[in-house]
Amino acid sequence: MGGPKAMDVLRQASPTIGVGVLSADLMSLGSELALLEEAGVVVAHVDVMDGCFAPTMTAGPPLLKAMKTPLLKDAHLMIEEPLEKIGDYVAAGADIITVHVESTRHIHRALQRLGQTENANDPARGIVRGIGLNPGTPVAAIEPMLDEVEMIVLLAVNPGWGGQEFIPATVDRAAEAKEMIGGSGREMLLCVDGGITRDNIAEVAGSGADLIVTGSAVFDGKSPADNARFMLEACRSARGG
Ligand code: DX5
Ligand code: ZN
Repeated sequence: MGGPKAMDVLRQASPTIGVGVLSADLMSLGSELALLEEAGVVVAHVDVMDGCFAPTMTAGPPLLKAMKTPLLKDAHLMIEEPLEKIGDYVAAGADIITVHVESTRHIHRALQRLGQTENANDPARGIVRGIGLNPGTPVAAIEPMLDEVEMIVLLAVNPGWGGQEFIPATVDRAAEAKEMIGGSGREMLLCVDGGITRDNIAEVAGSGADLIVTGSAVFDGKSPADNARFMLEACRSARGG
């Protein structure tokens, strides 16, 4: 009998944070992940960038595969033409895979293909399909594929680097996405990714986001565990938890 579905873990934890591991001390990634786990974090967010879709190159399946952790592995694919590459991230053990609506003209097919894959860690877990939107892409762009996604990922920064300023218009976009989710009649999650700090996390959690991705505000070189606990507490209290 397999473990819980990734979607159920996220629903139960909502609102919660996903922590961007590229901001961690990558020379000690194992202990950094253990520190997140102790703090109560349930999602490790990996920003995969190919230097084409986003201006920076980061890391791909080998890093994801090397991450031995009970945290859900969330692969954010900021890459061109993900269709033929999705399988590599599934094989590397991703539990959540987000592809960008801007990254291929065959985005619907990419999501369909992703929907036919099996979680390499545990088939019962399933794979959560995220659809990512850059700040310049209208939320309405994903209307045609709502039946093929489990999570809408709104970027609150332009993809490329950690430590950027949160784009304020994201709050209204979150409200628009929540309305779209409500009207779809489907169980879908909302993720806001990037530019999150101690100062704005309560507002973002209050906007209805289920998963809030933050990297540099947790791995700030001082106290990642305290930062993670602070963010988790802010999420809980934003929903009266
Ligand atoms: C965009 C990425 C985000 C971002 C998170 O570049 O998708 O995950 O880097 O990092 P912070 O929290 O530092 O903005
Ligand atoms: Zn990301």
